[in-house]
Amino acid sequence: MNRRRVAILVSGSGTNMVALVRAMQEGRVVADPALVLSSDPAAGALQRAAELGVPAAVVDASAHRGDRAGFEAALQRALDAAGAEFICLAGFMRILTPDFVARWQGRMLNIHPSLLPLFPGLDTHARAIASGMAVHGATVHEVTADLDTGPIRGQAIVPIEPGDTPERLAARLLQMEHRLYPLVLDRVLRGETAPILLT
Ligand code: GAR
Repeated sequence: MNRRRVAILVSGSGTNMVALVRAMQEGRVVADPALVLSSDPAAGALQRAAELGVPAAVVDASAHRGDRAGFEAALQRALDAAGAEFICLAGFMRILTPDFVARWQGRMLNIHPSLLPLFPGLDTHARAIASGMAVHGATVHEVTADLDTGPIRGQAIVPIEPGDTPERLAARLLQMEHRLYPLVLDRVLRGETAPILLT
Protein backbone atom coordinates (compact mmCIF):
# COMPACT_ATOMS: atom_id res chain seq x y z
CA MET A 1 0.00 0.00 0.00
CA ASN A 2 1.20 3.48 -0.88
CA ARG A 3 2.20 5.23 2.40
CA ARG A 4 0.12 8.36 2.83
CA ARG A 5 1.53 11.52 4.44
CA VAL A 6 -0.77 12.43 7.32
CA ALA A 7 -1.11 15.89 8.88
CA ILE A 8 -2.56 16.11 12.38
CA LEU A 9 -4.38 19.33 13.26
CA VAL A 10 -4.45 20.22 16.96
CA SER A 11 -5.34 23.05 19.31
CA GLY A 12 -4.56 21.61 22.73
CA SER A 13 -2.59 19.02 24.62
CA GLY A 14 -2.21 16.66 21.69
CA THR A 15 -2.53 13.28 23.37
CA ASN A 16 -4.53 11.86 20.46
CA MET A 17 -1.86 13.24 18.13
CA VAL A 18 0.76 11.28 20.12
CA ALA A 19 -1.30 8.09 19.80
CA LEU A 20 -1.57 8.57 16.03
CA VAL A 21 2.11 9.39 15.52
CA ARG A 22 3.27 6.45 17.65
CA ALA A 23 1.00 4.10 15.71
CA MET A 24 2.55 5.31 12.45
CA GLN A 25 6.11 5.19 13.79
CA GLU A 26 5.54 1.65 15.11
CA GLY A 27 3.98 0.43 11.86
CA ARG A 28 0.48 -0.16 13.27
CA VAL A 29 -0.75 2.44 10.80
CA VAL A 30 0.91 2.23 7.40
CA ALA A 31 1.39 5.97 6.84
CA ASP A 32 3.86 8.71 7.73
CA PRO A 33 3.32 11.67 10.06
CA ALA A 34 4.00 14.68 7.82
CA LEU A 35 3.11 17.58 10.08
CA VAL A 36 1.54 18.60 13.37
CA LEU A 37 -0.30 21.84 12.70
CA SER A 38 -1.60 23.86 15.64
CA SER A 39 -4.10 26.71 15.70
CA ASP A 40 -2.62 27.83 19.04
CA PRO A 41 1.03 28.76 19.58
CA ALA A 42 0.69 27.73 23.26
CA ALA A 43 -0.64 24.23 22.54
CA GLY A 44 1.09 21.49 24.52
CA ALA A 45 0.93 19.41 21.35
CA LEU A 46 3.85 21.38 19.90
CA GLN A 47 6.29 20.21 22.58
CA ARG A 48 4.98 16.66 22.21
CA ALA A 49 5.51 16.79 18.43
CA ALA A 50 9.10 17.95 18.95
CA GLU A 51 9.72 15.03 21.33
CA LEU A 52 8.37 12.64 18.71
CA GLY A 53 10.56 14.15 15.97
CA VAL A 54 7.59 15.26 13.86
CA PRO A 55 7.68 18.62 12.05
CA ALA A 56 5.30 21.12 13.59
CA ALA A 57 3.87 24.46 12.50
CA VAL A 58 1.47 27.03 13.92
CA VAL A 59 -1.25 28.96 12.16
CA ASP A 60 -2.42 31.21 14.97
CA ALA A 61 -6.21 31.41 14.86
CA SER A 62 -6.27 34.46 17.12
CA ALA A 63 -4.09 36.35 14.62
CA HIS A 64 -6.72 35.65 11.94
CA ARG A 65 -9.78 36.59 13.98
CA GLY A 66 -12.63 37.52 11.62
CA ASP A 67 -10.67 36.25 8.62
CA ARG A 68 -11.48 32.58 8.19
CA ALA A 69 -10.44 32.61 4.53
CA GLY A 70 -7.01 33.91 5.50
CA PHE A 71 -6.72 31.38 8.34
CA GLU A 72 -7.59 28.48 6.06
CA ALA A 73 -5.34 29.71 3.25
CA ALA A 74 -2.47 29.67 5.76
CA LEU A 75 -3.45 26.16 6.89
CA GLN A 76 -3.52 25.02 3.26
CA ARG A 77 -0.07 26.53 2.58
CA ALA A 78 1.39 24.68 5.58
CA LEU A 79 -0.26 21.44 4.46
CA ASP A 80 1.05 21.86 0.90
CA ALA A 81 4.56 22.67 2.13
CA ALA A 82 4.54 19.43 4.16
CA GLY A 83 3.16 17.38 1.27
CA ALA A 84 0.17 16.33 3.36
CA GLU A 85 -2.25 13.91 1.69
CA PHE A 86 -4.60 13.14 4.57
CA ILE A 87 -5.76 15.08 7.65
CA CYS A 88 -6.63 13.91 11.15
CA LEU A 89 -8.30 16.52 13.32
CA ALA A 90 -7.26 15.68 16.88
CA GLY A 91 -8.61 18.18 19.37
CA PHE A 92 -8.68 20.88 16.67
CA MET A 93 -11.13 23.41 18.06
CA ARG A 94 -11.85 25.54 15.00
CA ILE A 95 -14.78 25.06 12.65
CA LEU A 96 -13.67 24.64 9.04
CA THR A 97 -15.55 26.22 6.15
CA PRO A 98 -17.36 24.16 3.50
CA ASP A 99 -14.69 25.23 0.97
CA PHE A 100 -11.84 23.82 3.03
CA VAL A 101 -13.80 20.68 3.86
CA ALA A 102 -14.67 20.13 0.19
CA ARG A 103 -10.99 20.29 -0.74
CA TRP A 104 -10.22 17.48 1.75
CA GLN A 105 -13.48 15.51 1.51
CA GLY A 106 -12.82 11.80 1.87
CA ARG A 107 -9.33 12.55 3.19
CA MET A 108 -10.12 14.07 6.59
CA LEU A 109 -11.13 12.42 9.86
CA ASN A 110 -12.16 13.94 13.20
CA ILE A 111 -12.42 12.50 16.69
CA HIS A 112 -15.29 13.76 18.79
CA PRO A 113 -15.81 12.93 22.48
CA SER A 114 -19.36 11.63 22.33
CA LEU A 115 -21.40 8.87 20.77
CA LEU A 116 -22.51 10.84 17.74
CA PRO A 117 -25.15 11.71 16.72
CA LEU A 118 -25.63 12.40 20.45
CA PHE A 119 -23.97 15.52 21.87
CA PRO A 120 -22.33 17.31 18.95
CA GLY A 121 -20.48 20.49 19.95
CA LEU A 122 -18.94 21.25 23.34
CA ASP A 123 -19.21 20.04 26.97
CA THR A 124 -19.98 16.51 25.87
CA HIS A 125 -18.95 14.80 29.11
CA ALA A 126 -21.14 16.97 31.33
CA ARG A 127 -24.04 16.57 28.90
CA ALA A 128 -23.64 12.77 28.85
CA ILE A 129 -23.69 12.65 32.67
CA ALA A 130 -26.70 14.98 32.83
CA SER A 131 -28.58 12.81 30.31
CA GLY A 132 -28.73 9.94 32.80
CA MET A 133 -27.32 7.51 30.24
CA ALA A 134 -25.26 4.52 31.41
CA VAL A 135 -22.71 4.86 28.58
CA HIS A 136 -20.63 7.55 26.99
CA GLY A 137 -18.16 7.30 24.16
CA ALA A 138 -16.11 8.75 21.34
CA THR A 139 -16.60 8.79 17.60
CA VAL A 140 -14.20 8.99 14.67
CA HIS A 141 -15.97 10.25 11.58
CA GLU A 142 -15.30 11.64 8.14
CA VAL A 143 -15.46 15.40 8.12
CA THR A 144 -18.25 16.95 6.10
CA ALA A 145 -19.45 20.53 5.88
CA ASP A 146 -21.88 20.16 8.80
CA LEU A 147 -20.32 20.05 12.26
CA ASP A 148 -19.87 16.59 13.85
CA THR A 149 -22.14 14.80 11.37
CA GLY A 150 -19.99 12.99 8.79
CA PRO A 151 -20.10 9.22 8.19
CA ILE A 152 -19.08 7.32 11.31
CA ARG A 153 -15.98 5.11 10.92
CA GLY A 154 -15.56 3.97 14.51
CA GLN A 155 -16.89 4.36 18.04
CA ALA A 156 -15.63 3.47 21.51
CA ILE A 157 -17.80 3.20 24.58
CA VAL A 158 -17.14 3.61 28.29
CA PRO A 159 -19.53 3.20 31.20
CA ILE A 160 -20.70 6.26 33.10
CA GLU A 161 -20.03 5.41 36.73
CA PRO A 162 -21.94 6.59 39.79
CA GLY A 163 -20.46 9.87 41.01
CA ASP A 164 -18.59 10.52 37.75
CA THR A 165 -17.49 14.10 37.16
CA PRO A 166 -16.95 15.44 33.64
CA GLU A 167 -13.19 15.42 34.32
CA ARG A 168 -13.07 11.79 35.47
CA LEU A 169 -15.24 10.64 32.62
CA ALA A 170 -13.18 12.63 30.11
CA ALA A 171 -9.95 11.09 31.37
CA ARG A 172 -11.35 7.56 31.14
CA LEU A 173 -12.70 8.21 27.66
CA LEU A 174 -9.42 9.72 26.47
CA GLN A 175 -7.69 6.38 27.05
CA MET A 176 -10.21 4.80 24.69
CA GLU A 177 -9.79 7.60 22.15
CA HIS A 178 -6.07 6.78 22.00
CA ARG A 179 -6.89 3.18 21.07
CA LEU A 180 -9.72 4.03 18.71
CA TYR A 181 -8.23 6.71 16.49
CA PRO A 182 -5.20 4.75 15.19
CA LEU A 183 -7.35 1.69 14.52
CA VAL A 184 -9.83 3.74 12.52
CA LEU A 185 -7.14 5.64 10.62
CA ASP A 186 -5.54 2.37 9.57
CA ARG A 187 -8.85 0.98 8.35
CA VAL A 188 -9.83 4.14 6.48
CA LEU A 189 -6.45 4.29 4.73
CA ARG A 190 -7.09 0.71 3.62
CA GLY A 191 -10.43 1.79 2.16
CA GLU A 192 -12.62 0.09 4.78
CA THR A 193 -15.72 2.13 5.53
CA ALA A 194 -17.68 -0.12 7.92
CA PRO A 195 -17.55 1.39 11.43
CA ILE A 196 -15.72 -0.48 14.18
CA LEU A 197 -16.78 -0.64 17.82
CA LEU A 198 -14.35 -0.68 20.74
CA THR A 199 -15.72 -1.68 24.14
C1 GAR B 1 -10.21 14.92 22.85
O1 GAR B 1 -11.03 14.42 23.87
C2 GAR B 1 -11.00 15.04 21.56
O2 GAR B 1 -11.95 14.02 21.40
C3 GAR B 1 -11.66 16.37 21.77
O3 GAR B 1 -10.69 17.19 22.37
C4 GAR B 1 -9.80 16.37 23.13
C5 GAR B 1 -8.40 16.66 22.67
O4 GAR B 1 -7.47 16.06 23.51
N1 GAR B 1 -12.13 16.93 20.53
C6 GAR B 1 -13.16 17.76 20.43
O5 GAR B 1 -13.80 18.14 21.38
C7 GAR B 1 -13.47 18.19 19.02
N2 GAR B 1 -14.73 18.86 18.98
P1 GAR B 1 -5.97 15.89 23.01
O6 GAR B 1 -5.51 17.27 22.54
O7 GAR B 1 -5.21 15.47 24.25
O8 GAR B 1 -5.95 14.87 21.92
